[in-house]
Amino acid sequence: MDAIKLPQSESEGSLFVYLETYGCQMNVSDSEIVASVLRSAGYGLTHDPLQADVVLLNTCAIRENAEQRVRRRLEFFRARKRKRNPDLKIGVLGCMAERLRHRLLEQERLVDIVIGPDAYRDLPRLLRQVEETGQSAVNVQLSREETYADIAPVRYDSNGVSAFVSIMRGCDNMCAFCVVPFTRGRERSRNAATVVQECQELLDAGYREVTLLGQNVNSYRDGPVDFATLVYRVSLLSPQLRIRYSTSHPKDCSEALLEVHRERPNVCNFIHLPVQHGNSEVLQRMRRGYSAEEYRELIERARRICPDVSLSTDIIAGFCGETEAEHQDTLSLMEEIQYDHAFMFMYSERPDTYAARKYTDDIPEETKKRRLSEIITLQNSISRRRNEMEIGRTHTVLVEGASKRNPEQLCGRTDTNKMVIFDQGTLQAGMYANVKIKGCTSATLFGEVLSG
Ligand code: 5AD
Ligand code: SF4
Repeated sequence: MDAIKLPQSESEGSLFVYLETYGCQMNVSDSEIVASVLRSAGYGLTHDPLQADVVLLNTCAIRENAEQRVRRRLEFFRARKRKRNPDLKIGVLGCMAERLRHRLLEQERLVDIVIGPDAYRDLPRLLRQVEETGQSAVNVQLSREETYADIAPVRYDSNGVSAFVSIMRGCDNMCAFCVVPFTRGRERSRNAATVVQECQELLDAGYREVTLLGQNVNSYRDGPVDFATLVYRVSLLSPQLRIRYSTSHPKDCSEALLEVHRERPNVCNFIHLPVQHGNSEVLQRMRRGYSAEEYRELIERARRICPDVSLSTDIIAGFCGETEAEHQDTLSLMEEIQYDHAFMFMYSERPDTYAARKYTDDIPEETKKRRLSEIITLQNSISRRRNEMEIGRTHTVLVEGASKRNPEQLCGRTDTNKMVIFDQGTLQAGMYANVKIKGCTSATLFGEVLSG
């Protein structure tokens, strides 16, 4: 994901903070918590790094290249501090902070503050400590309870239509490739009443779509309220409020949840179900907890209960020991399932994970690259085919705002999570429109508004 910058500067606050976010949606949501904590402590927020007294990077550790990007950015701010602004304070937040901890401070002397994902309430204290002592400060304590349930996120980069609502934190799954359990700690769910209340407040403020977020939303539980029940409850708030969620784990995607998709028109007809690989032995090495067959059955069930459901997935190419035949199984599974969209990655070994400790990262870079590019080429053609099937159909689109390519046009998404571009007419962000699809690329639909 691209770095996210604050849209406008504020006038209040004695010191200004510039906050940049990398990685997943959860990090975007965490940055909204951080912005809230900082604002309550009297800091101003700025979109301009050159105006800032404090630069904070909310980081991702999921793949080596995500970390490299952050390191380059840190070097940039370090150079600025050395040459132009010796008072500038630099902080690393999030998953890289948790993973590298003291190394960022001691060995690499890159930063003034290191703060992990469960310690954001402590940020004002750490900032004061750095200001007062000139010494660096660190808090990478993980928590079994912290959900930030009582902190109202400051949605500083919002389009005013669609918002993230964090419902749980951490992950207990321990997939062999994944660093998340180490950087975000144990799974814990936020109190259901506060989730529903936050969604109500968003609705009252004019939002029309919420995405319920967690590393593994299907494991959500607050007493008797499981994930399907929570989604159902949020869906009762208003037919005008669309509900999405991310990320699901195929092993825990319940029939009850699929029923909620079917019954509730405002629970979007779209599920992201990361398969990771198409071969059962590889899935076992990955410790995913399902076989390719079980995954196929889940997709069949999902399509039986919700016939037009749109599906997306995550796929990893070149995991430890992956043979050519195993790689072919991923391509066959993709061909068979026909995902609407996929996020596709080359395997990147992460320190401390099960795979790093027990297996060898033995697939040569060239082979990984070639396999990934085969996966991407196939998915592009599938996405295009799926989008071509939409031509002539009419969708209810929630208008999100101006199209990035052509500001004269608007963009918005279908219930099935496909981006559509169309003429503005009398429409505005936050309105629903019936749009007839006239054309497409593999990534975008183009439509004509029938009624607003
Ligand atoms: N290497 C490559 N991709 C990874 N992912 C998670 N860990 C790794 C890794 N070590 C991918 C998975 C996951 C997505 C968020 O990132 O596909 O679902
Ligand atoms: Fe990256 Fe995972 Fe951390 Fe999100 S939870 S920022 S994807 S490492």
